[in-house]
Amino acid sequence: MSPQAKPASQNIKPEFIPQLMAEMEKRFGPGPNPRCFRAPGRVDWLGSHTDYNQGLILASTVDREIVAAARLRTDRSLNFYSLNLEQEVRTSLDQNAPNPAHGFANYPKGVIFEMLQAGIQIPGIDMVFHGNIPIGANLSSSAAIEASTIEAVLGLLDLPMTHWERAFICWRAENRFVGMPCGILDQFTIINCKKNCVLFLDCDHLASELIPFKFDEYYLLVIDSGVGRQLVKSEYKRRVQECRAAFDAIRKAGYPISSLSAIEPPQLKEMEPNLEPLLFKRVRHIVTENQRVSAARKVVSQKNFSQLGKLFEQGYQSSSKDYQNSCPELDILHDLLANAPGVLGTRIAGAGWGGCLVSIVKKVDWKEIEAKVKKTYTQKTQRQLRFFPLQTGDAPGEII
Ligand code: GLA
Repeated sequence: MSPQAKPASQNIKPEFIPQLMAEMEKRFGPGPNPRCFRAPGRVDWLGSHTDYNQGLILASTVDREIVAAARLRTDRSLNFYSLNLEQEVRTSLDQNAPNPAHGFANYPKGVIFEMLQAGIQIPGIDMVFHGNIPIGANLSSSAAIEASTIEAVLGLLDLPMTHWERAFICWRAENRFVGMPCGILDQFTIINCKKNCVLFLDCDHLASELIPFKFDEYYLLVIDSGVGRQLVKSEYKRRVQECRAAFDAIRKAGYPISSLSAIEPPQLKEMEPNLEPLLFKRVRHIVTENQRVSAARKVVSQKNFSQLGKLFEQGYQSSSKDYQNSCPELDILHDLLANAPGVLGTRIAGAGWGGCLVSIVKKVDWKEIEAKVKKTYTQKTQRQLRFFPLQTGDAPGEII
């Protein structure tokens, strides 16, 4: 393995913290010294769109993060600033609805309103965010903002809360406040997973396991296709509805399932006549994806990463053909990566419909992979690629 093959940690440098503090003072005036909190992004290893079908997922944190400087106020003001976006939002506890003009600030605001709903008294807050999770790269910068916010509020108020409740408050912020009907994958992973672990979660029983592992000579490489994710919100909602329609049709046909994930693979064939072909494809993806997650749980414990690569590949095919959350550019990129050195397997990261792919890579510097695929991809699509080699990241917490 070349010396650079295993990527160095991408955590935000501690020298950056005084800058966040200074920005806080500059924007929101003098006050008590802020404290700093952090939360990582996440990458899903397998389990595409299974979470809102009460299915199985495998995911980990990544070594890219959001850092938030925060201090309490007593005047009901909610002041947020993003250094990355250079966007300042001043609002208050009395404005309890999302505002499209508030952009990123709807995430911390949503968390604060869900905490109020849960009975927590918050007198007001100033927060300055900075992050190195690439936006739109399916690494869940939004859930990391949510998680850093809940860490900050609980830390400043010196309140305890279970990790489950933290995850559910953040999930409700995204669903009820921001209005994205996502599953629990992003928030649960960021809040419950730990460095050098991968999280297995059964979204039906919420039974989870942290599987310890070390990549050694392997790593995950996320590759941004350069295709924006404009379709995500509408297509995501449509898939949620299609899954619901398939569930209703199967129940109506006399199968008393509690979710699509309760379907046993051998039942699939006999259920087929009860479903429109499109809905059948959606169901087949969910059922087979759950099987792949179960298999991946075992192979990760055995550190059998080449087998994991094969499961990534099968997952990709199922996403692309049955769930149809790929796009022409992702398909081109996937095929190029299949012939790149060291790539053991590639699948769609996060929701899909543009955004990123994630590959499991062995012993090869990501620059060699870039050299192999970049030129042809840009010739074929007129788009630029971005590469993010990843390790797992630290759990959320205060930076002391
Ligand atoms: C997005 C959502 C998650 C999950 C994935 C697809 O990341 O936020 O809840 O549904 O898509 O697996």
